[in-house]
Amino acid sequence: MELRKATMDDAKLLFDWRNDPETRQVSRDTSELVWDSHVGWLTRRLQCEDHGLYIAEVDGIPVGTVRIDRDEISYTVAPEQRQKGVGEAMLVEAKRAFGQKVAEVKRENIASMKAAERAGHIVKFVD
Ligand SMILES: CC(C)(COP(=O)(O)OP(=O)(O)OC[C@H]1O[C@@H](n2cnc3c(N)ncnc32)[C@H](O)[C@@H]1OP(=O)(O)O)[C@@H](O)C(=O)NCCC(=O)NCCS
Repeated sequence: MELRKATMDDAKLLFDWRNDPETRQVSRDTSELVWDSHVGWLTRRLQCEDHGLYIAEVDGIPVGTVRIDRDEISYTVAPEQRQKGVGEAMLVEAKRAFGQKVAEVKRENIASMKAAERAGHIVKFVD
């Protein structure tokens, strides 16, 4: 697995992953994304050299995304790639590349808690 920096070409991918109902359910903001605001957000974020947005790829196929904000890490696995170890592998790779981070996880999100803990990150529960 490789982590590469996200670009504007990933806008649709990131939009679809973030708008997936399961992803929204476990996010702090559960509202549906609007394309134009998403593109605006991504454009602004990517203007920063150290934007912290990464795409995880296996054999050149995007399988998930990791976002680093100082000591925090957030992540999403592509819906069709879930429950086969991708989350844990992606977080292991992120730890190797960026060090140990804090993952804010809703208590009911068992998969996220397990993946983050096993990869060696710190889990902080949020409501
Ligand atoms: C949470 C997420 C990143 C986990 O990645 P994943 O690749 O699906 O999970 P893994 O295959 O690495 O599994 C990790 C552990 O969680 C378990 N697990 C996976 N999906 C599960 C589910 N829906 N319910 C309960 N446990 C689950 C796995 O069985 C595994 O535990 P085990 O080895 O004891 O069986 C991924 O499901 C996802 O992107 N979900 C939506 C967005 C999200 O939750 N982001 C994180 C916000 S904090």
